[in-house]
Amino acid sequence: MADARPRVWVSQPLFDEEIERLGQYFDVQATAEVTKYSAGDIAARLAGVDGALITLNERVGAAEVAGAGGLRAVANVGVGYNNLDLDALSAAGIIASNTPDVLTETTADLGFALLMAAARRITESERWLREGQWRQWSFKTMLGHDIHGSTLGILGMGRIGQGIARRGALGFGMKVLYHNRSRLPEAVEAETGARYVGFDDLLAQADHLVLVLPYTPAAHHLVNAAALAKMKPSATLVNIARGGLVDEIALADALANGRLAAAGLDVYEGEPNVRPELLALRNVVLTPHIGSASLDTRRGMVALAVDNLIAALGQGPDAGRPPSALNL
Ligand code: DGY
Repeated sequence: MADARPRVWVSQPLFDEEIERLGQYFDVQATAEVTKYSAGDIAARLAGVDGALITLNERVGAAEVAGAGGLRAVANVGVGYNNLDLDALSAAGIIASNTPDVLTETTADLGFALLMAAARRITESERWLREGQWRQWSFKTMLGHDIHGSTLGILGMGRIGQGIARRGALGFGMKVLYHNRSRLPEAVEAETGARYVGFDDLLAQADHLVLVLPYTPAAHHLVNAAALAKMKPSATLVNIARGGLVDEIALADALANGRLAAAGLDVYEGEPNVRPELLALRNVVLTPHIGSASLDTRRGMVALAVDNLIAALGQGPDAGRPPSALNL
């Protein structure tokens, strides 16, 4: 007999136990292999289901939901949701959700790892050593820039930014400056050891600048040639937010020409493609968008997304109240 329960589509392979949990309530269309979808593929999948659990790879906007009359919920596995057009989803009565909090500390860890690797030239040193270029210890081999006692700049002071600030202030005795849409309450500034400054002051004063702000069209190429020119030539830039925040050509140019010491990038404008101009440089550490990629955190993200989907489709203990809805 056909399964009459609501149907949900899961766009990428997930942990088995979470597919089973969805299966307690829904007819689940799981995906066994990592898959690249065109906009047309996504529209076709959404057309036949009540709910979808998707990742940052899948963009869902007006065109993708136009033919999805039965779609009531889209659960994004990830805190960033620039892949969703919230206005279009709200207009179509579709509940959208994301996965905040569960990935905060893991992503802050990676931000700090990139900062350290770039400033202390760790991956560059390793490559050099493996190439057999280390002939003898010398005073001037792979000189980097200090982390302890330096000035940490944070652009975007949400949960992850605050996690990075704590690591810098408490763990490394850094002076922490931040810039954000709005200033944080004094108690949070005191607890994170961070002081609010204007954007230009942040650029000028940071020895290490970490980007942790959400990507919106207004923030496109916020870190462009003009912004990079205001930074110290000895500075490190780290991006763990979204690639579109940085003009990558301008960044590669600054790195290649001694106008910026190093960069650590986890995100790129054309993911999964990384510009050849960046790949050619030694003073940039490149990771493949792994900010939240620890086993425990990925389990936590998927569990929260599944909770959101179950609740948004009116099932389970939180029926009607998804824990992290974006448009309710
Ligand atoms: C997010 O959650 O937005 C990350 O970029 C994906 O892990």
